[in-house]
Amino acid sequence: MQQTLSIIKPDAVKKGVIGKIIDRFESNGLRVAAAKKIKLSKCDAKAFYAIHSQRPFFNDLVDFMTSGPVVVMVLEGENAVAKNRELMGATNPKEATPGTIRADFADSIDANAVHGSDSLENAKNEIAFFFSSREIC
Ligand code: CMP
Repeated sequence: MQQTLSIIKPDAVKKGVIGKIIDRFESNGLRVAAAKKIKLSKCDAKAFYAIHSQRPFFNDLVDFMTSGPVVVMVLEGENAVAKNRELMGATNPKEATPGTIRADFADSIDANAVHGSDSLENAKNEIAFFFSSREIC
């Protein structure tokens, strides 16, 4: 069993597809072990995406992630990190496999509907960024 962090981004929340996205996870063996809808501050977004701070898209990413509420979740299941990334599809929705979340719900590489941890180590750090152990069960 693994846990991974998922974020439903502001574009998908605005479109009203929170339930449809969670259904993709639950229908494919990933259980929602924790969830909350929050609005990230600039400080939150900069800290969460610190690994990208030198990339040219960093400021746009921070602006986008703070443009509206997001839903942060801990997903749990067998191979949860890889499973979640498979269900999300490629970062750029134009390159995402049909039937994946990004192919179906995302508009652009910036407004790409969901974030998912890219490794087990990052999953642990990202989960701890948003949730205390008491909030996960
Ligand atoms: P995410 O998985 O949340 O991680 C970082 C985000 O930066 C990524 O999804 C994209 O939404 C955004 N981004 C914008 N431009 C790029 C790019 N050229 N490469 C990777 N990520 C990008």
